[in-house]
This record gives sequence, C-alpha cells and structure tokens, in this order.
Amino acid sequence: MIIERQIAGARPGLAVDLTRTGAEWWRGAVIYQIYPRSFRDLNGDGVGDLAGITAGLDHVASLGVDAIWLSPFFTSPMRDFGYDIADFCDVDPLFGTLADFDRLVARAHALKLKVVIDQVYSHTSDRHPWFAESRSSLRGAKADWYVWADPKPDGSPPNNWQSVFHGPAWTWDARRGQYYLHNFLPEQPDLNLHHPEVQAALLATARFWLDRGVDGFRVDAVNFFMCDPLLRDNPPAPDDGRPKTRPFDFQSHVRNQSHPAIPGFLERLRGVLDAYGDRFTVAEVGGENALAEMKDYTWGGRRLDSAYGFSFLYASELNPGVVREAVSAWAGGAGEGWPSWAFSNHDAPRAPSRFAQSEAELGPVARLASLLLFCLRGNAFLYQGEELGLPQGEVPFERLQDPEAIANWPATLGRDGARTPLPWRAAEPFAGFSTVEPWLPMDRRHPALAIDLQEADPGSMLHFTRRLLAFRRSRPGLLRGELRLLEAPAPVLAFERCGEGERLLCVFNLGRGAVAWTPPAGAWRLAFTTGAAGSLPHALEPLSGYVLTR
Ligand code: BGC
Repeated sequence: MIIERQIAGARPGLAVDLTRTGAEWWRGAVIYQIYPRSFRDLNGDGVGDLAGITAGLDHVASLGVDAIWLSPFFTSPMRDFGYDIADFCDVDPLFGTLADFDRLVARAHALKLKVVIDQVYSHTSDRHPWFAESRSSLRGAKADWYVWADPKPDGSPPNNWQSVFHGPAWTWDARRGQYYLHNFLPEQPDLNLHHPEVQAALLATARFWLDRGVDGFRVDAVNFFMCDPLLRDNPPAPDDGRPKTRPFDFQSHVRNQSHPAIPGFLERLRGVLDAYGDRFTVAEVGGENALAEMKDYTWGGRRLDSAYGFSFLYASELNPGVVREAVSAWAGGAGEGWPSWAFSNHDAPRAPSRFAQSEAELGPVARLASLLLFCLRGNAFLYQGEELGLPQGEVPFERLQDPEAIANWPATLGRDGARTPLPWRAAEPFAGFSTVEPWLPMDRRHPALAIDLQEADPGSMLHFTRRLLAFRRSRPGLLRGELRLLEAPAPVLAFERCGEGERLLCVFNLGRGAVAWTPPAGAWRLAFTTGAAGSLPHALEPLSGYVLTR
C-alpha cells in the first residue's frame, strides 16, 4: 500500500490557540448521546426522565466512554420534543427538577463522566415569555427579539423561505399584524440573534448551566442563528438529482440562514466558556455548505472547539468513497477545529439499518461501523442503543409522534424510529424501559438485544463495544494521531493513524465478498478485529475490520 495523502494535523500545535494545549479531556473523547425521553422511565409515565438517566449511568460508564451528551430536558411544550424551549434555565416537570439535574451531574462526575448538554439558540418555543412579550406589541422592549415582518401588499408572507419540517417558514400573528419567522415548526419562532440583547440573554443561559457544573455544550442548528436582515428570497436549488421531499429541498438556503455574522456570536460564546476552563463545545451543522461552515464556526481556535455534520448520519450506504470524502474534507488541519463524528443520533435512521442489506447483516454491520467510527480521527458520538447494535425501530403511522415524520410520511427521515425506548431487561414488560406503555413503541426486535441479555453473553455487541473502547483508550495514536488515507481497491478502505509514538494500520472490507489480502511487510500484528482474535489474516472477510500495530 502506498501512502496517498496526509490529511490531518500535519504540524501539531499550529491550530491550537493560547487557551488550548492539545491535551484537553475532550480531544479524542467518546461521547454517549442520551435522548432523555427514551433512555429510562423511573416515574412510570411512559417517558424517560432525569432520575432514570442517573440510575442508568453505571451502564454508560461501564462502556468506557468519556462523556454524556444530554438532548434537551428543559421546560418545553414538547412540540419538537424538547427542541422547543419555553424556559432555557429550568427542567421540564416531565423530566424532573433542577435538583434531579444536579444529582445527575454529581453521579456522572463521580463516575468520571463529563456532562455535555444541548443549547438551542436559534429559536424558542412560542410559549417562551420572550415570545409572548415580543408578539404583544410593535414597540415593546422585546419587539425585535424575534424576526418579524410585514406581509407583502397581497397579504402573503414577506418572502419565499420554507421551513425545514414542512411548509412556509412564516406564520401570521394576528396580535402584531405581522408574520414571524420559524425555520422549524410554527411553534418554534426564530430568535433575532442580530440583536445584542438577545445575544446577551443567550450568553446568560450558557453561564447558568456552566455555573451548575456542565462540562460543555452541543450547540444546536448553528447555521440557523442569523438570517439576511433584508429578508431577500432564496434562489432555487440547482438540480443535483436528489429527491425533493419538502418545499425546503427546492431552495438554496443562502438567505434564511448562514449569515456571515454568526461566527462573531460564536466568539462571544467562546469568551464565556474560556472563563470556566477546560469546557467543550461542538456545533451541529447541516445543509448544503456544512463543511465550509464547520470550519468557519471552529476557525482559528477562537470559536467552537469542534463540529459534526451529516456525512455519515444520512449516508444510505457505507462505502470507501463516503469515508474518504468525509475524512478528507473534515480533517481538523491547521486553523480548523477538532473533528467530531456521528453515525447515528436522534434525527437520523440508525446506522445498521441504513448500511445493512438484510436482517442477517445487521450484526456484522453494527460491529464494522463501530470499529470504523472509533478509528477515525476526532471525537466519536455513540448514540444510546448503538452499543447494543439496535436496528431502526419500526413505528406504525398511528404511533408516529414526530411532526416532521407525520408531515412528510412516508418519505420521512424516520426520526421516531431512532427514538424508540432503550431495552434494559428482556423479560420485563416494555423491556424494562418503563412499567407502562412507552410514548413510542418498543420495537419487536429490540428486547432480544436488551442490555441484560447482552451482559450475559461475552460474544455480544455490548461486550464488543466495551473491548473496542478499551482498545481505543489504550492507543494514543487513535485518540490524537494523524490520519493518512492509503490506496486500496474498493470495497477495501485503509488508513493509518500515526502519532504519539504509534503507528496503527486500519483496514476494512466494506463489501460482501472476501478479499485476498497481503499483510504489510514488517513486524505488524493484529491488535483488534471485528472477527475472532488471532494472527494476521490473509483474506479480509466480508464486512470486517482489522487494526494492526507494530
Ligand atoms: C435537532 C433536531 C431539532 C432541530 C430544531 C436539530 O438539529 O437535532 O432534533 O428538531 O434542531 O431544533
């Protein structure tokens, strides 16, 4: 194999600013994402809660992850299941209280888990008191805290912008006699982050949670923070051959989002975090310019620390091209932030179901995808249930909860199927998630993959994940080394991870047939494999991965 291209961090230190030493806790961290509604229900109402999370942290810590990321648990009418926030600084009664949150953080820290929480600054709930005040008058103190606009002379919305979920991004408000902007649901009015007081209020929110002891933020929908103040129309999207499910897909989103002033706000946010020491920030960035924006939002060590996009979250297959393109484009080179990667989360169909071509492939694909994820350069997000190899849950139309899924059914991104309850104990009703019917149904295949059954089986995905994370932790080259893609004929993917005195060769057969393979010359030995431990193989089994060291 010939070294093709070096794509990351060629000169350590160059991208690191004065407040970052390169040895931060989060560099190379594995962060376990908890979706609170579906993790564990302790108070018996069918919806997960903070006490359930605290009780389940032993399981999370036993995996060997470094941190948890909690999706929103703040006061919310739950129209977008917590991403519509009515009070940024309190806990929704469905999930518990601030005291429950403090207990959760204390338990996590006792288990040596850092706590990262979601921050949603692009919009609030329409029940937030700021919105109530803003809609009440054209001249009040908060009149401009949201994006308001007069109708066109014919009464139609001020421009052609469409919401992500469905339909126009504008809703008429009879109280003000104006339209307000919502890039997501009508119940999620967009905050006007061009307004200095709005920025100050959001930074106060950040301080509130940092003072409570959180270790970092996942910053939601960052490129939606600011729109074009002139409210000019979006142009039509170029025809790239991709299916258009929603009106949103027909536009190029150059005006409703991604305003060049967004990084200035991120620098202010970073200023707040720097006063608290070693805290971590990761941006969620989607859309047509995600890569450029991930770099922009983390640029120069003065903005956010890291960002993740959707290259793996929405990929319909796992092939060498997808991986090569993703890691080449988001390499964390000089000046750029530190990469983060996610294969599954609460918005995307679970990875094994996207990447497997049959039910029989779900298990092998889950192992292969995990090994790949944990060999990449950057932070890895592990979504609850990924450690069990859960396939995407099946949710019949009558049980759908997600407004996006309902509006676009059957051509949906399937968010409900990724949010079904976590199976804890196979033999109990609802697999031990709750004592009553959960808010989303337990998938019929999930109890057989429950935590208790997998605990008892040393060959399970759960034990595989633990071994894999222990392996990753023991290899500084994997945690912080550079990544060099190697030439290899598809369906083989190969790269090296080098650094901290280590050199590791990572080889994957992403195809369905065995591939003859000559192990590299030298004193290489097999350090980790998706198959049975042993000596260096001379053929790569279908859907398999190997890490070699010397
Ligand atoms: C979250 C989604 C949410 C949206 C609007 C996202 O990117 O991950 O779950 O619906 O932001 O807040």
